[in-house]
Amino acid sequence: MRILSGIQPSGSLHLGNYFGMMKKMIAYQENEDLFCFIANYHAMTSVTDGNALARGTLEAAANFLALGMDPERSTFWVQSDVPEVQELTWALSNFTPMGLLERCHSYKDKVAKGIAANHGLFAYPVLMTADILLFQSDRVPVGKDQKQHVEVARDIALKFNNQYGEIFTVPEAEIDDEVATVPGTDGQKMSKSYGNTIDLFLEEKALRKQIMRIVTDSTPVEAPKDPDRCNVFQIYRLFLDKQQQQALRKRYEAGGMGYGEVKQELFETVRDFFTPFAERRRELLADLDGLRATLARGADKARQAGAKTLRKVRKKTGLAY
Ligand code: TYM
Repeated sequence: MRILSGIQPSGSLHLGNYFGMMKKMIAYQENEDLFCFIANYHAMTSVTDGNALARGTLEAAANFLALGMDPERSTFWVQSDVPEVQELTWALSNFTPMGLLERCHSYKDKVAKGIAANHGLFAYPVLMTADILLFQSDRVPVGKDQKQHVEVARDIALKFNNQYGEIFTVPEAEIDDEVATVPGTDGQKMSKSYGNTIDLFLEEKALRKQIMRIVTDSTPVEAPKDPDRCNVFQIYRLFLDKQQQQALRKRYEAGGMGYGEVKQELFETVRDFFTPFAERRRELLADLDGLRATLARGADKARQAGAKTLRKVRKKTGLAY
């Protein structure tokens, strides 16, 4: 089965990205045909500093590779190294009703927040559709915030197939209930744009600061506490198996445990979880040409896979004459 997903290099990657998508993608390499990319075209909708985008792209790639993405076994590349996706975007745009895009929550939310809408932001889901369809993806593991975008991809694939014949695999989103929406330090969805993230690979001091800002209520130390309403627990549980979660629940419910204590434990847990991968990440970022070469090989593989689809599209639409 072909599994594909992408991640934007706009700012640091965080625990929401890790548990919502990266962890699953890395695990899938064992048995599936995995396609994974750094969505730098998409990041242009929010990052306008060229140096920041370039640096963010290299860092996102290094993070993924350090955490276990295997570029030999999987196909791992940077979106803009396979510009064919833009050609497909154009073809698909002609099968994308305005209303379909106007209904997209992430677009509507941004506009509601006062972000000036431009065509890139509006057409974002069409580019995402092209990412998915170019590689004939069966399944797309994402967090819940991307569910609607994968539905858009399905709609467009069906419309296009309806016109030209069975060209595209109609993809399915894969969303894991447990990690569909990882909460941030304020209890809302963890998101770069809300400033409530706990980032991957932070220095100790910065990590402690992010964890200490997790919002808790004012229940006194002695009193029993409700883990289901505690932001610290909701993040901490991601690192624990069922038994460990149960044990932590009991400590909450027994009282006598302060939020400061559990935050300190969470800090140590997050730090210890990522530390074994930090050295590899440092090595990758110390040899940027090596990293670029790895990404270039990934782009070659992706290009070959995409070329087949694009040939069919060109033929059926009449672009090939
Ligand atoms: P992006 O970069 O915002 O996020 C990458 C992945 O992380 C997931 N995620 C979360 N999951 C659970 N809880 C959270 N708090 C959380 N925050 C982020 C996202 O759902 C996503 O799966 N448009 C995509 C990138 C993209 C893409 C694609 C994905 C471009 N083309 C094609 C799949 C297929 C995005 O902005 O993800």
